[in-house]
Amino acid sequence: MDRSLAGAWDESAAEWIEWARTPGHDSYWTFHRDRLLGLVPKPGRLTLDVGCGEGRVGRDLADLGHTVVGVDASPSLTRACVEHQDGHPAILGAASQLPIADNAVDLVLGFMSFHDLDALEPAIGEVDRVLGPNGRVHLAIVHPLNSAGNWQNSEPADPSATPTFVIDGSYLHVRRYADRVERDGLTMTFHGEHRPLSAYTNALAARGFAIERLEEVTDPDPTSKWARIPLFLHLIARRI
Ligand SMILES: C[S@@+](CC[C@H](N)C(=O)[O-])C[C@H]1O[C@@H](n2cnc3c(N)ncnc32)[C@H](O)[C@@H]1O
Repeated sequence: MDRSLAGAWDESAAEWIEWARTPGHDSYWTFHRDRLLGLVPKPGRLTLDVGCGEGRVGRDLADLGHTVVGVDASPSLTRACVEHQDGHPAILGAASQLPIADNAVDLVLGFMSFHDLDALEPAIGEVDRVLGPNGRVHLAIVHPLNSAGNWQNSEPADPSATPTFVIDGSYLHVRRYADRVERDGLTMTFHGEHRPLSAYTNALAARGFAIERLEEVTDPDPTSKWARIPLFLHLIARRI
């Protein structure tokens, strides 16, 4: 794969808009929305949604009183965010070169986007630059354990058999992936980069951030295989 992740997302923009906007379809509705909206601080001066996509998270935050600006590297998704009937401002730009002034932001949100960036450290550097002194960054990513492996025997003929989660390579090595998913008549290719958890924590620590909260998101259904392996990770950090 030699194209950028942002380029891949722009090519998949139409599929993503349908996937993200179909009520109840994406994991946002089942696993994240209530958690995220419960964890975000009160509205500050400016909330920056990095990798805002078509803008669903920013619309929810605007409903809570946040002044939201999105930034996304996909022209199609940035346009969709702005042109939505309840849309908010969004700027075409890269996470590694945010078109935002120094110290202008009180909350940076990176919802399902920081594992989709080509370069993590420059993006965390930009988070550091735009955040004010008491600023907070909230990242929600595919859990690195999830992106490191796959289920074997996922749909066993014998329902009493337990699916096994296998890391068939290295948890520690960074690698690109493109996962094609079909569900309820919709298809979507998720383009991302697997990185170990330490890639995120080290990048934040190098910029003087302390992790305030880590939440590992599993399926609350105890019979689900995803009750044993975390699907997603929410990470909240602030400067020390
Ligand atoms: C899974 S989508 C999430 C979109 C949105 N946060 C949401 O949850 O609805 C990942 C987003 O990251 C964006 N992205 C990828 N690389 C980027 C980069 N270098 N700078 C800014 N955005 C980027 C993609 O264009 C895409 O909109």
